[in-house]
Amino acid sequence: MSQEFAPPTSEWYYPSEEVKKRAIIGDYEALYKQAQGDPEAFWAEQAENLHWFERWTQVLDRSNAPFYKWFVGGKTNIAYNALDRHVKTWRRNKLALIWEGENGDKASYSYWRLWREVNKFANVLKSLGVKKGDRVTVYMGRIPELMIAMLACAKVGAVHSVVYGGFSENALADRIEDAQSRVLITTDGAWLRGNIIKLKDIVDEAVRRQPIVESVIVVKRTGHDVSMEQGRDYWYHDLMSLPIANPVCETTVMDAEDPLFILYTSGTTGKPKGILHTHGGYQVFISTTLQWVFDLQDDDRFWCAADPGWITGHSYIVYAPLILGATEILYEGAPNYPFPDRWWRIVAEYGVTVMYTAPTAIRSLMRFGDAWPNRHDLSTLRLLGSVGEPINPEAWRWFYRVIGKERCPIMDTWWQTETAGFMIAPMPSVPLKPGSGTRPFPGIEVDVVDEKGESCAPGVDGNLVIKTPWPGMLRTVYRDPDRYVRQYFSTYDDKGWYLTGDSARKDEDGYYWIIGRNDDVIKVSGYRLGTAEVESGLVSHPAVAEAAAIGVPDDVRGNVIYAYCMLRAGVEPSEALVDKLKEHIRHEIGPIAVPTKIEFVASLPKTRSGKIMRRVLKARVTGAPEGDLSTLEE
Ligand code: WTA
Repeated sequence: MSQEFAPPTSEWYYPSEEVKKRAIIGDYEALYKQAQGDPEAFWAEQAENLHWFERWTQVLDRSNAPFYKWFVGGKTNIAYNALDRHVKTWRRNKLALIWEGENGDKASYSYWRLWREVNKFANVLKSLGVKKGDRVTVYMGRIPELMIAMLACAKVGAVHSVVYGGFSENALADRIEDAQSRVLITTDGAWLRGNIIKLKDIVDEAVRRQPIVESVIVVKRTGHDVSMEQGRDYWYHDLMSLPIANPVCETTVMDAEDPLFILYTSGTTGKPKGILHTHGGYQVFISTTLQWVFDLQDDDRFWCAADPGWITGHSYIVYAPLILGATEILYEGAPNYPFPDRWWRIVAEYGVTVMYTAPTAIRSLMRFGDAWPNRHDLSTLRLLGSVGEPINPEAWRWFYRVIGKERCPIMDTWWQTETAGFMIAPMPSVPLKPGSGTRPFPGIEVDVVDEKGESCAPGVDGNLVIKTPWPGMLRTVYRDPDRYVRQYFSTYDDKGWYLTGDSARKDEDGYYWIIGRNDDVIKVSGYRLGTAEVESGLVSHPAVAEAAAIGVPDDVRGNVIYAYCMLRAGVEPSEALVDKLKEHIRHEIGPIAVPTKIEFVASLPKTRSGKIMRRVLKARVTGAPEGDLSTLEE
């Protein structure tokens, strides 16, 4: 459980006439029923809005379930739908991307300019030998070149694996190894809170550990001195000024089921798993969900304030807004740098109409008070959005009242890396209750069920499951199909349901309330981390014999990490060692994984079979009941 769970409220917020008049989908109920009647026809109808080099012959192939295939036989490329098709229309002169650096640098890209840059970089990738199916690791801050790199990979048929710029050496090295990437795209550094994060240094160390990388392309962003290894490292701007960087590049024709990207995410056990998504179904799902939930139209300026290195950024910064031909904002730095009104200044300056962010960001900005946003003209906003963890009603109301001026409905979207896009989310015409993502998206069948698979009555907690396949679903865990089946489909294997890992409840109105993760995944500031990652990070330090990590509720960050370490014989506990271990985690995994508290213990609560009982540790911190202790070892 992340935030303290707020019981379902009977507080309703109804859309204004203005919102209803504009809404693309006016009657959610009718559309939901229609989709439910014939989901395949429903998704095929949405797929018709996109470009296919060749049409599919079968919408859904269930023959090898749960390895589903969508739009079988279809030929397409998501980059074609995001860019090529727009430059053939008036949209070529429309702004695709407005970028602001933390240090005040600015850039903007029309569809034409973005298309040309992507073409040039696609040709650069080809000249380095990148071919269809090759994995390319991307490790950068929030700059336009990150999007260009991802789109160029898609264009040539390469599979991108983006590693969030907040991860460090070991996390990066693990992901390079799993994906077997020979090419890595990075930057010298990234600006954050006025400091330079030295990404290239981290890359050098990660590549030393995983020498499989043959070429490193470096975008110059911060301009500080970095070491460039002859024959391995190339400056992006040098490559982009060579004749090989031709601004015309044929888009590779991909099979609908050809992989588009791998994105590593934390699971219950072991190393992060590579969630695999493909070109065809993914593009249909993310563009439909974005268009209907945020009512995106040509006059919008859409700002998803997430990082492109996470699924939210993949789907709703890099791909879906461009597929829809929208104008979007990308901002490099911290929301409160140099002052807590940075975001609100951006909204006013660019006339943002839709702002999509996370509860943790809302809570942290809320703490600075109303005066900061009140200084700015936020009147262009018409819709707000939230993702990443349950939003507590207090933060919801603040966002609604102070930022949206009680005019802008809040779209609370529940989904996962695995689902690719919104699964439970309202549309602007749907009445809201603060803290609930309302109802499932059309074409999506969800339920809350008990261990036996019986549907839970309203108000009763259970497992959130998805009962039927959808076009954006993950296709597998990269190089580990067994894990895909085990993790997501084994709990209700007789029924073929997908297990989300979340616990939830429905209320009397059929609205869904997410309680939190059921497993050992911790959401820290909306970022997903596994206890296993933090624990193996700690154990990789020579002082630590064994470790357990838990998530503990926190007012701003949702959860923070507490860690318990058993030291090796002869090692003395000390404050200095606590600091050393924190530094070690920062270095190995990244700042987001650093425990708020590290405690040294003589033993850890374990089951007789030797599994650490994190539940017991958690209960001791939060004062919750310890539950069944019958399996606890003496
Ligand atoms: C949680 C992020 C409540 C949930 C898109 C899920 C949410 C996990 C919400 C996936 C929400 C995401 N309300 N909880 N609106 N959105 N979650 O893969 O626990 O980083 O399983 O995807 O975030 O995290 P992930």
